[in-house]
Amino acid sequence: MSFDNIRVQVDGGIAVLTIDRPKKLNALDNDTIGELRTAVAELSADAGAGVVIVTGAGEKAFVAGADITVLVEQGVVDGVANSKLGQALTLEIEASPKPFLAAINGFALGGGLELALACDVRFASANARLGLPEVSLGIIPGYGGTQRLPRLIGMGPALHMIMTGDPVDAAQAHRLGLVIGVFEPGELMPGVRAAAARILSRGPTALALAKQAARRGAQLPLEQGLALEADLFGMISSTGEMKEGMTAFLDKRKPSWLRRG
Ligand code: COA
Repeated sequence: MSFDNIRVQVDGGIAVLTIDRPKKLNALDNDTIGELRTAVAELSADAGAGVVIVTGAGEKAFVAGADITVLVEQGVVDGVANSKLGQALTLEIEASPKPFLAAINGFALGGGLELALACDVRFASANARLGLPEVSLGIIPGYGGTQRLPRLIGMGPALHMIMTGDPVDAAQAHRLGLVIGVFEPGELMPGVRAAAARILSRGPTALALAKQAARRGAQLPLEQGLALEADLFGMISSTGEMKEGMTAFLDKRKPSWLRRG
């Protein structure tokens, strides 16, 4: 995979997707979003990529938002289109069978936080700042922030962040459940890689179906979500993966998983 604004490195089953525009604090312009969508599609189909880590180049920013030089030009029609483009990326991450971990290595503002919110699990460095500053620019979040942040941390804390536009620091993000763990900056990538390796040791089809059950189920009434879970539970029971996982347990050995794209 060759890109201008992002880097993709796959090693030992762990893919690292780095947004690489450090001079613009990794802000997301439309080309960068297009490249991210291509990378998400390719990694989703890549048997060699069991888990994907999303991070930003440099030590200052994860992603400092949608590119304001693009947004300042927009009218009604391209405003809707810009929002839908960023939303498409977030939906594709959520629909991917692969677990996505965000390693938030600095500013995660606006579209940057919205990108992290679409990932399955978030970790931050101690110097990270996370926020939705859009109202301070006279706009509203457009890549899913008004929808995913309240669902993740609750309406009151989310609306406080959205209405003040003020970022929270890593410790506060941890208290809010916005990130699952905080590392010193130099420890962030090793820590997130260790978390990724732990997930990678689990059944790949089970991971994909568990993610699907949680992601799709979150949009359904409980009874329908439970029906979906039961169907997927039936589906996993038809795989060699279930047999291998349980036989390995009974044989007191590590399971050996078959990885498909
Ligand atoms: N879009 C476009 N360019 C951006 C950007 C964004 N979201 N965020 C930062 N940049 C650019 C700056 O314009 C600057 O470019 P320049 O060197 O050509 O002038 C460069 O990245 C470095 O940013 P700078 O503001 O000088 O760094 P700082 O350390 O003083 O401040 C921030 C860091 C993150 C606080 C500040 O850049 C900021 O507030 N960015 C916008 C955040 C935002 O509102 N995001 C939501 C957008 S909807």
